[in-house]
Amino acid sequence: MATWPKHLAPFLWGAATSSHQIEGFTHNDWTRWEKAGHIADHKESGRATDHFRNPDPDLQLFQQMGWNAYRLSLEWSRIEPSPGDISAAAIAQYRHILHALKQLGMEPVVTLHHFTLPTWFADRGGFFARDAETYFLNYVSRVVTEFRDLVSLWVTINEPMIYAVMGYGQGIWPPGHSSLIQTWKMAHRLAAIHRKTYARIKALSPNSMVGLAHHLAFFQPYHRYSWSDHALTRFIDSEFNWRIVDEVNTHQDFLGLNYYTRQWIKTARGLSPISAKPGAPVTDMGWEIYPDGLYHLLMRASRYQKPILITENGIATMDDARRQQFLLDHLDRVARAQHDGAEIRGYLHWAALDNFEWAEGYRPRFGLIAVDYDSLKRTPRDSALLYRDIIAANRTHSGMITVPRAPQSPV
Ligand code: FCB
Repeated sequence: MATWPKHLAPFLWGAATSSHQIEGFTHNDWTRWEKAGHIADHKESGRATDHFRNPDPDLQLFQQMGWNAYRLSLEWSRIEPSPGDISAAAIAQYRHILHALKQLGMEPVVTLHHFTLPTWFADRGGFFARDAETYFLNYVSRVVTEFRDLVSLWVTINEPMIYAVMGYGQGIWPPGHSSLIQTWKMAHRLAAIHRKTYARIKALSPNSMVGLAHHLAFFQPYHRYSWSDHALTRFIDSEFNWRIVDEVNTHQDFLGLNYYTRQWIKTARGLSPISAKPGAPVTDMGWEIYPDGLYHLLMRASRYQKPILITENGIATMDDARRQQFLLDHLDRVARAQHDGAEIRGYLHWAALDNFEWAEGYRPRFGLIAVDYDSLKRTPRDSALLYRDIIAANRTHSGMITVPRAPQSPV
């Protein structure tokens, strides 16, 4: 059983982002996808929050919000704009960011692949290419060697299942394919690449903790008395949630979990879940708000007997009162799962600040910190201040968190 290293805080409090969604001016397969008109309102990510050019004020703000951790991703297309050609400027800027985080008392949690690919890699066939593994591992070796003195927590791949489903099943994300077989193959290819990546990172940085950010949805049968809805739910839960966890389990020091919602399974809809029953509370993404799902999935994940890191959990809403309630309710379920025996070592809210939400563009507002996209001004929302107070109240704890009881107001 992997143990949580003593040099890390017993509980990591913070928030998450990914390179393409906040940095601005990236040149990858997504940039191309955006130019081809695949984004809501024909938007492009453009300068995004302009974080990469000017990261320091954001990092200082994160510290003022009381976080002791921050999850970010490295943009491979910046670091290696053409095969084998490493950008010293990109390495230097990421080093600056990682170093600043450490100085400010925040533990970086670094993702190596968060949905985007260099165009040259995408053009060779992405992760399906015969030499994909070699290229990806070269990039990994380079960045781990550069940053191993600053990084103890690595996330190899963000949400392999979502990446496979959106890009190869539903065709909503690049490369825009619609094939069940390809979806399945991509998911398993990524599991294999993860295992190799894990071994590579451990060889270069033996004391680091390496994991993967799994996307888990809480699936339930639509009709309580339908035998086939139950059977299909079990099948989807096992294929979509747990198969990949099993496949990489010998190669993960912690379980990274991203949780957002419950989905309903109806036999007549086959493999396409229903997002919410009529009348259920939903976010601006149309995702049902269901905190108990987090509790159940954490308890299920605890059977793997590894430290759990919640690598994402959050809500798209224009109404920050809903975000505050969401935060209280979900942290309450984290505390309950800890109480019931799950070893949960951190909570990284999605997102640190408003950002580019993939095919949905800039409309969804996920940030604890609001961004005015015209002036680029940042303003912490009340939810960020509430979160800061919760973190402050937990400062001297042993790793078991306490959360003020969620007020009874409906979500
Ligand atoms: C997750 C992604 C993240 C963000 C949130 C809302 O699936 O990992 O980049 O888009 O959803």
